[in-house]
Amino acid sequence: MATRRIAVLPGDGIGPEVTGEAVKVLKTVARQAGVALEFEDALVGGCAVDATGEPLPAKSLDLCRKADAIMFGSVGGPKWDGLPQEQKPERGLLALRKELDLYANLRPAKTFPMLIDSSPLKRSVVEGTDLMVIRELTGGLYFGEPRGIEKFADGGARAINTMAYTSREIERIARVGFDVARKRKKKLASVDKANVLIVSQLWRDVVNRVAQDYPDVTLEHILVDNCSMELVARPTRFDTIVAENTFGDILSDEAAILVGSLGMLPSASLGGAVALYEPVHGTAPDIAGKGIANPIAAILSAGMLLKYSLDLGTHADRVDAAVLRVLEQGYRTRDIGASGAKVVGTGEMGDLVVKELEASA
Ligand code: IPM
Ligand code: MG
Repeated sequence: MATRRIAVLPGDGIGPEVTGEAVKVLKTVARQAGVALEFEDALVGGCAVDATGEPLPAKSLDLCRKADAIMFGSVGGPKWDGLPQEQKPERGLLALRKELDLYANLRPAKTFPMLIDSSPLKRSVVEGTDLMVIRELTGGLYFGEPRGIEKFADGGARAINTMAYTSREIERIARVGFDVARKRKKKLASVDKANVLIVSQLWRDVVNRVAQDYPDVTLEHILVDNCSMELVARPTRFDTIVAENTFGDILSDEAAILVGSLGMLPSASLGGAVALYEPVHGTAPDIAGKGIANPIAAILSAGMLLKYSLDLGTHADRVDAAVLRVLEQGYRTRDIGASGAKVVGTGEMGDLVVKELEASA
């Protein structure tokens, strides 16, 4: 196989630490699978703002366009909070999603049996939770026009964001939802606010139309407020969830903490020619640079990269299994550490996973 190029965009906060561990894992698997991988780093987010004045320098975007896949860390932090909206580190990630047409964001949230007690919810509620949240990623409030702020002479102001979706945008994400549900438990919950929002009414109509092509999948429409409540009350009643951008952003954080820690959840952003993989957690500025962040979300994201971008699904399963074995042996990073656990740092956790991968080769 020809050399495959991975663009590595570590970003800010704990991004570089956890991404480093994901790259270690990718290198190990590449060696074992006999695949040549080439890694090239680029700036994104706050560090890019500091170095170039822009959150997504043209050079970084160009590298991503030419790559076979993108391994992303996280962006943002208090240092850049004062910047105008268009220059914030987060804009770098949003621009990348938009430019590369990464409209489908897959966020699996599954309980790890040995971590159930790190969930803030009762064992009886979360046990058996296995969700796939599919978030639309390039439309809605995040990108809708008009947007902006109007200042009034009296010192007041009016700010606008627009939640807009075309039927084409809804249809393509709905199809991803049904396709994914079909490979899982054939149950799809489509989230909207159709009792209030016109855009949600269109969403519901289009999802219903697409559903006709998937008679084997059971479709449920659920209002976003109710979904948010049901997720903490009865998470096991859900399998695959599809939601527009903002609703999906909120619900996927909720799903993440439900299964234990935000530090465990990977994601894949698909749609365009090159896909992006990133942990769902943010930059965690309070623990950045200390070597204590949990790299598992980044490592599992690397697993998704192997599966979706390099067609190495069996190796992706090996990565998942290696993580599971390390957890079974009692190793934990601080965020998931209970009393009696062997608490390790970021690098050590990455090394343990690599060791397991080597043992299973
Ligand atoms: C996420 C994050 C991003 C988002 C931020 C960092 C722009 O919260 O990926 O969920 O809102 O999409
Ligand atoms: Mg979010």
